Amino acid sequence: MNADLVIVGSGFFGLTIAERAAALGRRVVVIDRRNHIGGNAYSSADPETGIEVHNYGAHLFHTSNPAVWEYVNRFTEFTNYQHKVYTNHNGVVYPLPVNLGTINQFFQAAYSPGEARALIAEQASEFDSKTAANLEEKAISLIGRPLYEAFIRDYTAKQWQTDPTELAAEIISRLPVRYNYDNRYFSDTWEGLPVDGYTAWIERMADSPNIEVRLDTDFFDESQPVNKTAVVGQVPVVYTGPVDRYFDYSEGELAWRTLDFEREVLPVGDYQGTTVMNYADAIIPYTRIHEFRHFHPERDSYPADKTVIMREFSRFAGRDDEPYYPVNTADDRARLLAYRDLQSGEKDVFFGGRLGTYQYLDMHMAIGSALSMWNNKLSAHLGGE
Ligand code: FDA
Repeated sequence: MNADLVIVGSGFFGLTIAERAAALGRRVVVIDRRNHIGGNAYSSADPETGIEVHNYGAHLFHTSNPAVWEYVNRFTEFTNYQHKVYTNHNGVVYPLPVNLGTINQFFQAAYSPGEARALIAEQASEFDSKTAANLEEKAISLIGRPLYEAFIRDYTAKQWQTDPTELAAEIISRLPVRYNYDNRYFSDTWEGLPVDGYTAWIERMADSPNIEVRLDTDFFDESQPVNKTAVVGQVPVVYTGPVDRYFDYSEGELAWRTLDFEREVLPVGDYQGTTVMNYADAIIPYTRIHEFRHFHPERDSYPADKTVIMREFSRFAGRDDEPYYPVNTADDRARLLAYRDLQSGEKDVFFGGRLGTYQYLDMHMAIGSALSMWNNKLSAHLGGE
């Protein structure tokens, strides 16, 4: 193998490092065990309708980091899409995050910001945040029992497959309540979706004669030419797979939640009128429905009589499932520290990304931390400035 750097994982973290190294003239081999690049940000056209589907769940790009914004704009333009989420509770649709519109609709009232603030403070006084014994008490201490029971309790139980009274209070530190009618989901400086889709963006990052991509290649499969035994110690490696897998789970498994997606093409031009509808109640088994045509209202190529929806179900991940969200219990954090100790003994292996560091990272965070790793460590390591 003729490479100055091997990168395990072609998600945004791996591809950012690959692109930077290639720009410096270094030869890079990127491997991925999936049959496509892009990691969880990968999207593809639905074969029946041509509608772009985010295969691993809705991906909304947003950042307030100028360096990241400048960098990503080298590869794609962005639409002016602004994300908004609604939730269905008892057959009525409310705007999220909880805001003055949600509160007034829920209490059938016309509270001013000050009146609503006073009401929620009074309802939240049932528990003290500092002494809350579980997630339920903590949530009530933040937004009061009525809003908690309507919008948080069953949804959280579905996400975690666990009653909130059995979940640790520390899972939530805050529950945003806005005392105005602003229901933009993100408050970052820049927000939008890639004009010609995530995969076009991702492919442009990998488009260099210095980058070789090998798909369907698992780093731990010794029948493949690029594998852990063959490579580590010979060539610098950036590893963005699960950190516990790298060390063969020697310190125990880190717990993740995963998602199951159920995709359907429906014979209507518009199913729900918006991109994401949450389902707050226990009686509905899924947590939300995505309708992909609404991510790109500017595209006139989409059919007027068909739409693609995806129902999302949440559960704990087994070893063979896709790891999506770190569970992050105290045991997990102790294991992670043990893995970090082991990492320091791995010569020339750089752990990064969501799976390699066991933390939830938005895309801009994955790209930002890859740029930091490149600027602070790898560039000099590979003979740059
Ligand atoms: P990522 O997981 O993308 O890539 C890791 C790659 O490593 C994968 O392609 C995997 O196949 C590969 N790999 C693992 N083990 C391997 C092995 N042994 N051998 C070879 N390859 C291996 N962010 C955001 O900004 N806005 C959003 O709306 C969302 N929404 C969202 C929804 C859901 C459901 C999830 C799970 C995540 C998001 N994200 C998000 C986060 C976004 O997906 C995340 O920031 C990026 O995927 C992080 O990129 P990484 O490169 O770190 O990991």
